[in-house]
Amino acid sequence: MTTIAIIGGGQIGEALTSGLVASGINPINIRVTNRNEERGRALKERYGITPETDNTKAVEEADVVFLCVKPKGILSVLAEIAPTLDSNNIQSVVVSMAAGINLATMEEHVSAGLPIVRVMPNTPMLVRKGMSTVTGGRFVTTEQVELVSRLLGAVGEVLVVPESDIDAVTAVAGSSPAYLFLFAEALIDAGVSLGLTRAAAKELAVTSLHGAATMLKETGEEPAVLKAGVSSPAGTTVAALRELEESGLRGALFRATQKCADRSAEMGAAG
Ligand SMILES: NC(=O)c1ccc[n+]([C@@H]2O[C@H](COP(=O)([O-])OP(=O)(O)OC[C@H]3O[C@@H](n4cnc5c(N)ncnc54)[C@H](OP(=O)(O)O)[C@@H]3O)[C@@H](O)[C@H]2O)c1
Repeated sequence: MTTIAIIGGGQIGEALTSGLVASGINPINIRVTNRNEERGRALKERYGITPETDNTKAVEEADVVFLCVKPKGILSVLAEIAPTLDSNNIQSVVVSMAAGINLATMEEHVSAGLPIVRVMPNTPMLVRKGMSTVTGGRFVTTEQVELVSRLLGAVGEVLVVPESDIDAVTAVAGSSPAYLFLFAEALIDAGVSLGLTRAAAKELAVTSLHGAATMLKETGEEPAVLKAGVSSPAGTTVAALRELEESGLRGALFRATQKCADRSAEMGAAG
């Protein structure tokens, strides 16, 4: 029996709760905290979890403690729960889902020896198609990394990475759903410009993007190979691809991800 505390039952906390319950964890053993009691009651009704407003009570003898509060609240929550984690009879593992707060900073706010794992999730976690990376801190064992990875597997895919990769991970996974949303929005507008109704353009664009992403994932094929498969000689697709290349789409992605990684590094250094 694994006892889990989720501190902060907001968007990410609820996505995690819903995935963990669906994966077969007894909801009674999932304690979710919010300062607002009403939110806890709603989560209890929806998932059958144990709601709490007291973070210290929630982490008592918890195997894994997920911190799902906003980044600015992470260090104060850590300071609040640290004494209880110290007095627990079992070794609790703390998992931070917050962007921009590095392991060393978190480790400074708790007693030496407390295992802390840093996770970088992304929003598709809300539909259990997330891409999360996991990085173990100084005091984390391989078994603890495996346990956290297994739990996060309930809401998507998981990759273990060194902390030095986090800025690049942010650029390629954390922020990339927004690039796709921008692409989808532009494709819909382009369809409207060609005379389609907005509803038809949306249906065509969204279903095509979903289908193409599913092909990439399910075939494991290189994107270049799938792209070649759609492009007949002197055909319509290659005419569009040439225009996209000449407009600098590829270069724009290199530059955008660099900006994203630089900003992530800047925020990490400040926080
Ligand atoms: N959403 C995303 O797309 C996304 C993606 C990647 C990473 N993340 C990370 O995930 C974390 C959570 O983000 P989110 O979007 O889920 O935020 P959110 O929806 O605002 O949820 C935060 C929750 O924490 C609760 N809370 C705040 N302070 C608390 C405290 N001291 N004790 C107990 N509960 C507390 C809030 O409820 P009350 O005010 O009622 O307490 C709220 O329900 C952030 O650190 C963020 O960086 C989010």
